[in-house]
Amino acid sequence: MTARTIVLTGATSGIGLATARLLARSGHRLILHGPEPRPAVEPLLAELPAPAPIDYVPGDFGDLGQAAALADRVGELTGHVDVLINNAGRPGPPARSLSRDGHEITFQVNYLAAVLLTERLAPLLRGGRVVHVASATHLSASLDADDLGLERHPYSPTIAYARSKLAMVMHALWQARHPGPAIVAISPGVISTGLLHAMYGAGGAPTGHGARNVVQAATAPSLPAGTYLDDGEPARPGRQARDHTAQDALRQATTRLLRPWL
Ligand SMILES: NC(=O)c1ccc[n+]([C@@H]2O[C@H](COP(=O)([O-])OP(=O)(O)OC[C@H]3O[C@@H](n4cnc5c(N)ncnc54)[C@H](OP(=O)(O)O)[C@@H]3O)[C@@H](O)[C@H]2O)c1
Repeated sequence: MTARTIVLTGATSGIGLATARLLARSGHRLILHGPEPRPAVEPLLAELPAPAPIDYVPGDFGDLGQAAALADRVGELTGHVDVLINNAGRPGPPARSLSRDGHEITFQVNYLAAVLLTERLAPLLRGGRVVHVASATHLSASLDADDLGLERHPYSPTIAYARSKLAMVMHALWQARHPGPAIVAISPGVISTGLLHAMYGAGGAPTGHGARNVVQAATAPSLPAGTYLDDGEPARPGRQARDHTAQDALRQATTRLLRPWL
């Protein structure tokens, strides 16, 4: 396998950490991200098989400035990115909460930060691929571009989470109709992690299973832009995700929200 330069967010636990292990073993050059400062994750980094260099860049996506700083740091570390894996994610909190930037926190961490990173790294991604780690929960969600912050619609942790994942899939499909990086969206399976257990209770497959699905999406030779894979198999995204008018409305609203950063 050709060694690639891969940026992986949310590499400090769960599916992301298992993905980092698989990618490191294959000799890819990795730029890993997590919300914790480096000393807190040093033991994890030390355990990674590392035939190739591994960089770590911290950033809490509850602060969009830190997502922008991550992109800037990646630009200092490398002139080219083959794959950006937008894996970082959080469950919806018990009650609606706002980020430092004033956005509903789940929507910001799971979606806005991923779009910001994708846009900022686009110049480095020429010919490369972006993997949005979304979720099959997007199938149950609906998104109103006039109420992305869930001010008027009812809030629940699972509603906030599923909407953020629907937004990721919609972004991948919107981008496939426009010039820019090729984005593949995936649902990694139902995987035993802190995030799953916080919202849906016990259960789930081992993290290595989800990681293999992420690695497949990141490294399979030909995956057309806008592909959606559910547990490793091509699948049809939800109805609203495929709706061009809804995609355009989300895009316009997203551009407004991210204007200070783009
Ligand atoms: N588990 C499943 O069944 C499942 C199903 C569908 C989709 N997914 C998606 O898979 C991805 C990985 O989730 P997981 O299940 O592996 O959960 P996880 O173990 O909780 O890992 C999530 C990763 O995101 C990081 N993160 C959390 N909040 C952050 C913030 N504010 N800023 C920056 N990074 C942050 C976490 O950091 P810490 O290490 O500090 O927690 C961790 O590295 C997520 O996008 C999730 O939505 C998971």
